[in-house]
Amino acid sequence: MMLENINSGYKPVFLILCCIQPPPAKYGGRHTVTLIPGDGIGPELLSHVREVFRFSCVPVDFEVVHVNSALETEDDINNAITAIRRNGVALKGNIETKHTMAPSVKSRNNLLRTSLDLYANVMHCQSLPGVQTRHKNIDIIIIRENTEGEYSSLEHENVPGVVESLKIITRNNSLRIAEYAFKLAREKGRHRVTAVHKANIMKLADGLFLQCCREVAAGYPDITFDSMIVDNTTMQLVSKPQQFDVMVMPNLYGNVVSNVCAGLVGGPGLVPGANYGRDYAVFETATRNTGKSIAGKNIANPTAVLLAFISILFLSVCVFDYFILTLDFMLFVQLHTADLGGQGTTSEVVQSVMKIIQSKGQHTSDI
Ligand SMILES: *[C@@H]1O[C@H](CO)[C@@H](O)[C@H](O)[C@H]1NC(C)=O
Ligand SMILES: *[C@@H]1O[C@H](CO)[C@@H](O)[C@H](O)[C@H]1NC(C)=O
Repeated sequence: MMLENINSGYKPVFLILCCIQPPPAKYGGRHTVTLIPGDGIGPELLSHVREVFRFSCVPVDFEVVHVNSALETEDDINNAITAIRRNGVALKGNIETKHTMAPSVKSRNNLLRTSLDLYANVMHCQSLPGVQTRHKNIDIIIIRENTEGEYSSLEHENVPGVVESLKIITRNNSLRIAEYAFKLAREKGRHRVTAVHKANIMKLADGLFLQCCREVAAGYPDITFDSMIVDNTTMQLVSKPQQFDVMVMPNLYGNVVSNVCAGLVGGPGLVPGANYGRDYAVFETATRNTGKSIAGKNIANPTAVLLAFISILFLSVCVFDYFILTLDFMLFVQLHTADLGGQGTTSEVVQSVMKIIQSKGQHTSDI
């Protein structure tokens, strides 16, 4: 595979997971991808992505669907979900969920993932060339269960001052997420899968998840299986992250662990995330925050969304040339945004990415 030709050692794993069939090319060999700008830094970052797409003459069209997070109705998000069903693939910014809204208003991001049954969230945390961090040589794949756990929004107040919040774990879903993790580990030549849990306290719920991982592990004798309690996991991650290979875990622990890991390799602006189901794929940044405080200031790091963009190229166009070209930008862009201690603006970084694409002989339009 051409990917192996890249000498940098940087091999994004999530790109090549294609557990779904790329949707067929439509009119004139072009593909349509749903684009949901979201809130905070989402709109500006995704407009840069569109600029790079246009510039690189990639045969992808975007269907832009806006979701207004200030509205309490679910019409907008339902339109977005329908658009993704039609196109198969989407790139999205994070949609804000205000704590101040009525409890009946569910997280739009969550609705989208559950409606499309995007059961696996995949994130690849790898030390990046040129990014200074405390720990080196990190290369972890995190598989986070994406539709169950504490994210059911099934909460109620029994009597004033007493609230019950349900955590859902099902055997079928735990089996398929464990299967996903082991299959991916084998495909990627990984040696170890660690299940993260808190089964010492949540004996039934996390106990079931862990048991399912064990059952699936029995079918993969070539891969070492172990488990680690979530509190120890976070401590081990910040002190010796190199010990981890592939990690699989329920939803909420996945949220915490993926944020810790993004921090370890340089921050939220660097790591893309992918949500996969049987039929659809939705790409976003791994840490799913809106970055509201830095919105509109032209300082957000565009790397994560550009990497998500490359995944789409791969998935919807399956043209390796585009992919390799744009992959190189990670190695050449020495211009860093403020989150990495640099002084580059978002648009300067995007401009240099485009210059790199051009210098590689890619057919481009005008900058
Ligand atoms: C779990 O999966 C099996 C096999 O596909 C199916 O027969 C069964 O109904 C499922 N159980 C639940 C609770 O969904
Ligand atoms: C935490 O993980 C480390 C590394 O795997 C292990 O050696 C240690 O025993 C664990 N500690 C506890 C309290 O489980």
